Amino acid sequence: MTSRTNVPFTRRDFVAASAAGLAVSTFAGAVPAFAQSGPRRVIIDTDPGVDDAFALLLAMRSPELKIEGITPVAGNVPLELTLPNALRMVEIANRPDIPVAVGAHAPLLRRLVTATYAHGENGLGGAVFPEPKLKPIADPASVFIRQIVRKYPGEVTLITLGPLTNVATALMSDTGLASMIKGVTMMGGSLSGGNVTPAAEFNVYVDPEAARIVFQSGIPVTMVGLDVTRKTALTDAHVKRLEDAGTQVSLAAAKIARNDIDLNRREGNSSGPNMHDSLALASFLDPTLLTWRDYYVDVETEGELTAGETLGYRPSESGLHGSAATLAGTKTSAVLRDKFVPNAKVAVDVNSPRFFELLIGRLASKA
Ligand code: RIB
Ligand code: CA
Repeated sequence: MTSRTNVPFTRRDFVAASAAGLAVSTFAGAVPAFAQSGPRRVIIDTDPGVDDAFALLLAMRSPELKIEGITPVAGNVPLELTLPNALRMVEIANRPDIPVAVGAHAPLLRRLVTATYAHGENGLGGAVFPEPKLKPIADPASVFIRQIVRKYPGEVTLITLGPLTNVATALMSDTGLASMIKGVTMMGGSLSGGNVTPAAEFNVYVDPEAARIVFQSGIPVTMVGLDVTRKTALTDAHVKRLEDAGTQVSLAAAKIARNDIDLNRREGNSSGPNMHDSLALASFLDPTLLTWRDYYVDVETEGELTAGETLGYRPSESGLHGSAATLAGTKTSAVLRDKFVPNAKVAVDVNSPRFFELLIGRLASKA
């Protein structure tokens, strides 16, 4: 697989970027977004993707957000599909004011693994929509992210719904960027087992090196992982409400959902699809939908079986431990860190009915 991102990248760069991130330490903790006045500036990084499509439509129906841009990345399906799918959602929501910047074709160091089994070959459950007329802007996603963050230092939250390749690339290309980013709200990771391997959730599984750079960047992270998104299965009743609403947005969402529910049933899944990304987006609109807990989260990148696992550490008298030191290695201690310093607020529970009232209510609204 050729061309990855616009920044040459080696494992040495990855290690250096991770170490640099450790220097930017404090986790100030995200002030609840809904508690602030006026639209909040966000960039939405995404791999549409059925649940991404719902999240994008929800975002574009949410006046609390000033969407500075959307940056598609390869993930659920290749970039050749996530890009037009993102453009289609912008057109369906009639939001041509929102720039779309093309992101990475592939992870930083790995071959792309897609999820067509869950999102269909076209990424929208198989639901067919016309080719988008809108075009992306000329700048690539990592350059766009840098431009917007530097234009509005301290004001921009990155809402990431796919593999973190674009964000990591932006951070590696500008060492001063992390301290200017207000926060990262991510759908990603899991402290209760994965959905690709028993250890790894898809977004982190696809690009564990990128995820580690983000978690170690010092940017306040709110992690909406499988621990809570497994409780967000879309139902026929939700879809019927969208169909009854009869708007362009609600009918498009219903069409994607109907197709993906059929795909899920053919795959033997009796419920779902889960609205993973919509929950992450909704958590930024109203964090009280979820229960949060501070963790130090790090990402396994070496494991032959466990690469992409997100490990959540809580305070411990004996410090934070990694694997036992090997006889052949240079390390003699397993202690990674003496002191517990949280780098993430992790969602540990969700009020699913309130979440769906927000999601379906906004997608079905005629306003
Ligand atoms: O594990 C769920 C995540 O992976 C969601 O973002 C879904 O869209 C896929 O990207
Ligand atoms: Ca996604």
